[in-house]
Amino acid sequence: MARFTSLLAALATLATSVTSKKVFIENDGLAALQLLIPLYAGYDVVGLSMSFGSASSVDALGVAYDILSEYNLTSCIPLYLGAEQPLLQTNDTFQLHNTLFGAPVWEGAYASTYEDSYSWEDLEYDDATPGAIAMIEAVKKYKDTDPVTIYAAGMMTTVAQALSIYPQLAEEAAGLYVMGGYIDNQYAQATGSSIEVDINTDINLIQDPEAAQITLTAPWKKLVIGGNVTNYLVPSQPLYDRLIHKAGGLDKIDGSEYFAAIQDIVYSGNYSQNNEQQTLPFWDEVVSSFMVYPDIITDSIDVQCAVDTSFYSPFYGNLRIWGEEFAPTSGVRTGNATLINSIKDDDFYDLMVDVLFTNWTDYCATGSFASLEGY
Ligand SMILES: *[C@@H]1O[C@H](CO)[C@@H](O)[C@H](O)[C@H]1NC(C)=O
Ligand SMILES: *[C@@H]1O[C@H](CO)[C@@H](O)[C@H](O)[C@H]1NC(C)=O
Ligand SMILES: *[C@@H]1O[C@H](CO)[C@@H](O)[C@H](O)[C@H]1NC(C)=O
Ligand SMILES: *[C@@H]1O[C@H](CO)[C@@H](O)[C@H](O)[C@H]1NC(C)=O
Ligand SMILES: *[C@@H]1O[C@H](CO)[C@@H](O)[C@H](O)[C@H]1NC(C)=O
Ligand SMILES: *[C@@H]1O[C@H](CO)[C@@H](O)[C@H](O)[C@H]1NC(C)=O
Repeated sequence: MARFTSLLAALATLATSVTSKKVFIENDGLAALQLLIPLYAGYDVVGLSMSFGSASSVDALGVAYDILSEYNLTSCIPLYLGAEQPLLQTNDTFQLHNTLFGAPVWEGAYASTYEDSYSWEDLEYDDATPGAIAMIEAVKKYKDTDPVTIYAAGMMTTVAQALSIYPQLAEEAAGLYVMGGYIDNQYAQATGSSIEVDINTDINLIQDPEAAQITLTAPWKKLVIGGNVTNYLVPSQPLYDRLIHKAGGLDKIDGSEYFAAIQDIVYSGNYSQNNEQQTLPFWDEVVSSFMVYPDIITDSIDVQCAVDTSFYSPFYGNLRIWGEEFAPTSGVRTGNATLINSIKDDDFYDLMVDVLFTNWTDYCATGSFASLEGY
């Protein structure tokens, strides 16, 4: 799930080597590090599709377009438009459910206060190929050489669409990584402040419960869920200090377009002056990190899973997990998932800092990258 507060601002495909691993990222917006961490680890990002969800379709695309432009990555990372609405859920059913069972703090692009920040005419993307088709084509293209990992960090709608068109997707992909799928969070929701309630709400799944059920119960070779763990890695004053120190001062960060992603982490440089939206966890970045550096995982558990698709349920769109011997064997379809519980936090922050001080300017031309000069 991606949110932004202030964001900055024809596609050929580079011949990709058959030895590097491949990932296709689907999201409702993009965090720069979500994209850059896989590149840093030597992955090819074979496509980005941006969908409606926490952002409107145009904003989701706009944020991704800006990041690609800023890092000069537009010419080798194709950008597509994914799902523009959930499968079955509509704004009316979403609002009705909120009336019946209580509204989430964050209602994504369905919020009555939501206003678009981008305009279609300012964006370039591959509008000839819908996101779901691009995902299928990428998976088919590399299935025998370098199976593509799919990383879905927004609603699961685009992946569900792709599965409907091409059910073999689940077996031909290397696996699916998901951001979203929280567990045990009722108590936190009942006792927390509005931001705690917010971050413990599974907006990625509840905005399109049916798509989530279809996607999380498909026969993936590997299905990895980054639920709770994604809430455990957060901005802090020590992280701000480290980034500011390395940059050579807050003015260096403010003054450089290249440091926009750092600016979006440190804001004023003083953590205590942040508003709630400026303290959000590093959700999508955390999943990118353990996807490409699995050694940082310190605890995980294998479960069977399904998503509640009963509209008349307060848990509509929530993840349900079972141990193997207690899962339903008929009736509700279940998937086999690995739930990541914890990672090496320090390694994650170290990685963030390294990636943020990397120069990507020549990446599309040469396939390589370097440290930023002077850092
Ligand atoms: C969703 O419904 C709310 C409440 O009726 C409305 O304010 C908002 O504009 C709608 N959003 C969309 C994207 O249709
Ligand atoms: C998941 O998150 C909730 C809310 O923060 C917490 O109470 C619970 O212990 C967590 N469970 C696991 C397994 O991490
Ligand atoms: C889950 O794993 C079991 C045992 O390996 C297998 O029979 C079942 O088909 C798997 N389910 C899915 C959805 O992949
Ligand atoms: C951060 O802001 C708070 C209150 O706004 C202030 O008391 C504190 O001195 C500031 N800290 C730094 C390091 O500037
Ligand atoms: C941006 O990447 C292109 C290759 O796609 C390259 O030709 C160009 O030199 C790069 N721009 C800069 C400013 O280095
Ligand atoms: C990135 O590297 C290119 C040369 O490869 C250089 O021209 C450019 O100034 C560097 N950008 C930054 C922000 O250091």
